Amino acid sequence: MRVYELAREMGIESKEVLAQAQELGIEVKTASSGLDDESTELLRLAFSPEVEEAAPAAESPQEPAEVTEPVTAEESVEAEAEPETDTPVAEPAPEEVAAPAGEREEAEEVTADVDVSIATITAGASVADFAESIGQPTGEVVKALLERGVPAGAQQEMPAELVDEVAEGFGYIVEVVEEEAAPVVAAQPEFDDAEADLAPRPPVVTVMGHVDHGKTTLLDSIRKANVVEGEEGGITQHIGAYQVDVDSRRITFVDTPGHEAFTALRARGANITDIVVLVVAADDGVMPQTIEAISHAKAAGVKMIVAVNKMDLPGADPLRVRTELTNYGVITEDLGGDIPSVEISAVNGQGVDDLLEVIDLIAQLEDFRANPKPTASGVVVEAQLEVGRGPVATVIIKRGTLRQGDAFLAGSVSGRVRALMDDKGERIDTAGPSDPVQIMGWSDVPSAGDFFEVQKDDKEARRIAEGRQQEEQAEARTAPSARDRLQGLLEQLRSEDAQLNVIVKADAQGSLEALRESIGKIEREGGKIQIVHTAVGGINENDVTLAEVTEAVIVGFNVRPEPKARRAAEEAGVEVRTYGIIYELLDEIEQLLVGQLAPDEEEVVLGTAEVRATFKVPRSGTVAGCYVIEGVVQRGARARLLRDGVVIHDGVISSLKRFKDDVREVQSGFECGMGFENYDDIKDGDHIEVYVVREVART
Ligand code: GTP
Ligand code: MG
Repeated sequence: MRVYELAREMGIESKEVLAQAQELGIEVKTASSGLDDESTELLRLAFSPEVEEAAPAAESPQEPAEVTEPVTAEESVEAEAEPETDTPVAEPAPEEVAAPAGEREEAEEVTADVDVSIATITAGASVADFAESIGQPTGEVVKALLERGVPAGAQQEMPAELVDEVAEGFGYIVEVVEEEAAPVVAAQPEFDDAEADLAPRPPVVTVMGHVDHGKTTLLDSIRKANVVEGEEGGITQHIGAYQVDVDSRRITFVDTPGHEAFTALRARGANITDIVVLVVAADDGVMPQTIEAISHAKAAGVKMIVAVNKMDLPGADPLRVRTELTNYGVITEDLGGDIPSVEISAVNGQGVDDLLEVIDLIAQLEDFRANPKPTASGVVVEAQLEVGRGPVATVIIKRGTLRQGDAFLAGSVSGRVRALMDDKGERIDTAGPSDPVQIMGWSDVPSAGDFFEVQKDDKEARRIAEGRQQEEQAEARTAPSARDRLQGLLEQLRSEDAQLNVIVKADAQGSLEALRESIGKIEREGGKIQIVHTAVGGINENDVTLAEVTEAVIVGFNVRPEPKARRAAEEAGVEVRTYGIIYELLDEIEQLLVGQLAPDEEEVVLGTAEVRATFKVPRSGTVAGCYVIEGVVQRGARARLLRDGVVIHDGVISSLKRFKDDVREVQSGFECGMGFENYDDIKDGDHIEVYVVREVART
């Protein structure tokens, strides 16, 4: 028997067998070395649970009595005869699954001198991932599969029954490991509060569903505010959290974006949630993200309410929706299940009160409670950099009460509460369980999904944050860099595949994460994508320099290059592309990857002006006193209002004045007064970037 065969039989990694063999003085060199019967038996014995138990390194806690019982060899061998039952040993420990690069290197070193190498893939890996793990071009694996009568694309799942066979053909032994589920929210401690300390708290309700099925409109009609109109492309880009009163009882709502790009954020939305409202459009039915939302809700183990929306439309067919839902285990009350469903129209408000009543009813039944007394802890749902305010994050408090001046920590970012604001942007003094609260006073932008916790004092918060930062940096140094870069290099040498490097800048941490995830998923036959750098904020000169040396394209989401950065990019020939809608960005990256992109519209920046003062003018709204820094500004042209490189508004210059006179344009070096059409929120220090869009012939 060979080492790897024994390893597979026992469900452990070959290198462990090798290590054990060495300890026992059995002479084996590599995973494909042969073992005689005696050695095999010895090794089996060594890995049998009883022996493992007695060893000091054993981790599997079992009945303590067993440890002291004498164990005979026969018993051990017998126990071994049913490997499936030896769970503590047979299953790879989590540390092995997430084995850091260093460990894997060891494994390869051991096998370096033989014709068989060992690779590891996670269960359910794609054909491309599989190919990568055995160091082959994807095309070769696709071919090998075809030869075995299985047509499969690069992104399809590698057929499990062919893993061994195909790998062997390339001289590899592949160990399949179960993927460890990524924790959705940074580890949250469990609290054990005394019953007497618990007080009722509002339910946290997350609205989920397919894109455009009406989530934001529903929340809107609930809060009677207008969020949808302000959104670019009508798609919710961040999670918004709001609180409303229903019959003097409060409900906290979390809006999650519908586009697939935001799966990551949505997953988090579900985990801070008590109740999910699943919005399904009555004219559209169950769609892919409806199904995803169901999975998230189920995984989070939260209550669900179905809201069949758009009942005002002629094509509305609510029964069809509810019937479709049964296919996904969502059985509504009218069909004999226990999931309430409400028919609504978010636009005309029909049924919305019923929905609120159902939420309220569930909240009363479930009797959601938390301890408001201790220092606060919660979860970051959204974070961004804001001009004049620095990093700002929305946190939903889970336990305790947050106060101004509290020192806190979230992930590797610390801070001290400088100001608290409610969902309407109004200053508040304290925030308690289930409250969504905007917090100012962060040392940096935290990540959406991070666990938030008040600390004893600033020093303690900083100390822990710094420790985590160092850990992160150490991980970044060891894990991907050296190995991955080398691998990338090798791959480039081996294949002619194009690789597209990108630098991603975005307006908020949430968007950035979603982008990173979505971009990571883009892969095309003949093209590879590599994210060189991501950060929150406007595109600056450093980004351009980095792009120049890495030959990367800079993509910006809701951010713009600073004038200096734009000039530097032009000089260096660095491509900068900016977007306000996430799927346009993803589409274009995909096109860039296959080298097909030929813009049919090109944007030309005419000039940039800096706001030096603002005035309220009756009837024309706010007028900005500007100085034109470069180029020319023109009345009637489109312009973006930028604050620290982030696009605050995109609209039309409706008024342009030199002193008292209306003028058509103003050149650089001059002062002028400028106003936007229907937009007043202009501040000192803002930049106004004036541009035109030109048609360009496709090449
Ligand atoms: P994403 O945030 O992009 O996932 O979309 P969403 O689910 O938040 O949808 P949104 O509220 O932006 O609504 C999408 C479109 O559907 C908008 O044009 C709404 O006006 C429309 N809409 C929403 N609810 C209703 C409704 O009850 N009836 C009708 N007729 N239209 C609706
Ligand atoms: Mg929305």
